[in-house]
Amino acid sequence: MSDISVSTNGAPRSTGAKGDVVLEVKDLNVSFPTDDGLVHAVRGVTYDLRRGQSLGIVGESGSGKSVTSMAIMGLLPKTAQITGSAKLEGEELLGLRDVELSRIRGKKISMIFQDPLTSLNPVYTVGFQLSEAIRVHYPDVNKAEARQRCIDLLDSVGIPNPQQRVDAYPHELSGGMRQRVVIAIAMANNPDVIIADEPTTALDVTVQAQVLEALEKAREEVNAALILITHDLGVIAGHTDEVLVMYAGRPVEQGSVDEIFYEPRMPYTLGLIGSLPRMDEDRGHRLTPVHGTPPSMLNMPSGCPFRPRCPMHQDICAEVEPPLMPVSGTGHVSACHFAGDLEGKSPDDVFAPDASDLSVEAEVEAAEIEAAAAAEVESSEEGK
Ligand SMILES: Nc1ncnc2c1ncn2[C@@H]1O[C@H](COP(=O)(O)OP(=O)(O)OP(=O)(O)O)[C@@H](O)[C@H]1O
Ligand code: SF4
Ligand SMILES: [Mg+2]
Repeated sequence: MSDISVSTNGAPRSTGAKGDVVLEVKDLNVSFPTDDGLVHAVRGVTYDLRRGQSLGIVGESGSGKSVTSMAIMGLLPKTAQITGSAKLEGEELLGLRDVELSRIRGKKISMIFQDPLTSLNPVYTVGFQLSEAIRVHYPDVNKAEARQRCIDLLDSVGIPNPQQRVDAYPHELSGGMRQRVVIAIAMANNPDVIIADEPTTALDVTVQAQVLEALEKAREEVNAALILITHDLGVIAGHTDEVLVMYAGRPVEQGSVDEIFYEPRMPYTLGLIGSLPRMDEDRGHRLTPVHGTPPSMLNMPSGCPFRPRCPMHQDICAEVEPPLMPVSGTGHVSACHFAGDLEGKSPDDVFAPDASDLSVEAEVEAAEIEAAAAAEVESSEEGK
């Protein structure tokens, strides 16, 4: 069991922590008003993150992973409706003015985005951009000191010949090297928290592992807490202590990486695991994909949002959205009415290939819900 606290209903748990809680997120909700209605992008995200620990946030596209972190960083449009709390070392971040947030961004919390090309300015050398990141928060650092710090940072993220590379322009570096520069910028001011949003998605699979290693080393070096956001559960394995699985804007399972991989208690998590290729499976073993698509965040169906895709669904699932409930005494929590029935179950048991009728049923039901939502939007537009 790791040391990051996860909690249900906002009540933190203590798990023999290595460090203090640096980031405390409680019941975070984000909605966007649109012409078609309110998009409920994030619904009730709660977690505690301790210094030196790492949390993986995993979920399909549109599940609210990025919006959760952008809300914490104060990077959402002004129209976003945000409730709940996000405290960095006890200081409330939600509602801070831009000028106050810029004191924190890059110094206490830094963010690494998917595409290093959009994070780096093509007309400045990497050394200049690194120095700027340092000097904006520490104007007293002189140029020579900043340059030496840049070289040390490039060295620590595994860039060969940092004395020469410090004067290179981004286009002179490979994608993996550019992302290492972005990691170096993120660690430049010894932040308390590094948020990496799909940091390896834009990279070749061969360099993904190296960049993740560089990120882990960077985190260790500055003893920051890390939030690693990804749609790929495989990226989480071996790189985070805790995992938060998101579906349709809310956490549906939280626990240690071992609990999530070896004792999953939410059908969606089992589906994610079943979709991963594994070295320890027989050659002929087929993956078990989750059929269907996530619901629209605009007109959420009643009950469990995973129901149209869930082979285990029963009548109650259509009526009551399950809350996050403990599934063991350790803080492992899951949002499924039948979490208890999943003990010892494998992805094949739930999403077996011979359950193709269920797959078709899931596709049909998902299509019906989409059509009903579209009809509702259309009729509300007609009524305007
Ligand atoms: N400014 C906005 N206005 C309206 N809806 C938005 C806005 N930003 C995000 N959304 C919606 O919020 C939901 C969550 O988006 P988010 O970017 O957090 O997804 P994600 O899990 O990061 O997905 P991906 O893996 O594709 O990055 C999506 O339905 C998205 O369309
Ligand atoms: S609550 Fe019902 S529909 Fe939702 S995941 Fe559990 S069994 Fe499936
Ligand atoms: Mg995203």
